[in-house]
Amino acid sequence: MRIEEIRKLANTIEGWLTDKEGELLFNLAKNCTSENGVVEKSVIVEIGSWKGKSTIWLGIGSKLGGKLKIYSIDPHKGHKHRPETIETFEEFKRNIRKADIDDIITPIVKTSEEAAKGFDKPIKLIFIDGNHEYDYVKLDVDLWFPKVMDGGIIAFHDTASGNRWKGPKKVVKELIFTSKKLRNVKFVNSITIVEKVKRASVKDRLMNRYTLFLKDVYEFTNKLSLPQPMKTIGKRLIKQYTQ
Ligand SMILES: C[S@@+](CC[C@H](N)C(=O)[O-])C[C@H]1O[C@@H](n2cnc3c(N)ncnc32)[C@H](O)[C@@H]1O
Repeated sequence: MRIEEIRKLANTIEGWLTDKEGELLFNLAKNCTSENGVVEKSVIVEIGSWKGKSTIWLGIGSKLGGKLKIYSIDPHKGHKHRPETIETFEEFKRNIRKADIDDIITPIVKTSEEAAKGFDKPIKLIFIDGNHEYDYVKLDVDLWFPKVMDGGIIAFHDTASGNRWKGPKKVVKELIFTSKKLRNVKFVNSITIVEKVKRASVKDRLMNRYTLFLKDVYEFTNKLSLPQPMKTIGKRLIKQYTQ
């Protein structure tokens, strides 16, 4: 399946993911291949699947790559920011069937807190896009970070400055400043990705902070009406940290 076809399919589904973010998830999932025995048994986890837009990008990517199973966690009762209950599970199932990925997706109709109990599969890639309140994003990290294998990738949605939700950005910043197990911080639109390693070097950790700093400066200057040449220089500087 070509990227344009996946994009077309994904855009029939209501959601907040941009095409660029979708392609990032697709490539991350496709790159989850069986380099060694552990990876073969490893899985992809998605926290917050809503109607399946991100699931489709992840699912098709995985199918074209190492075919890792995907556990899609969502209570399917709607948004915290919407007062009414919105049942999304039936639509989610229809959408993953339409994309022909229902064979590798295991939906878990629970909150991430409930789903984390007893979940013991090594995680190669996790996409965190559930409840965006600070305490919940922090809980997602506390519960799921230890289950991510060394060399695994953690991707957080809605971490850009202009976002309505401040929780994901704050949690990512704190994690980058406190964890000694992260390297290769990168950004694509509002997604931040990091690689978990057994122990990051001092250089890796300094690079993480530097990248975060550059991103903050870039986002800040983007809000100002600077002359185009200055914006171009900023873009070039940040380019190496975006995918
Ligand atoms: C922003 S939407 C996810 C969008 C989806 N990733 C996409 O690309 O279309 C957030 C989802 O998180 C779910 N959610 C809310 N609280 C949750 C929790 N504690 N654990 C897991 N999912 C949760 C909601 O039901 C909602 O479907």
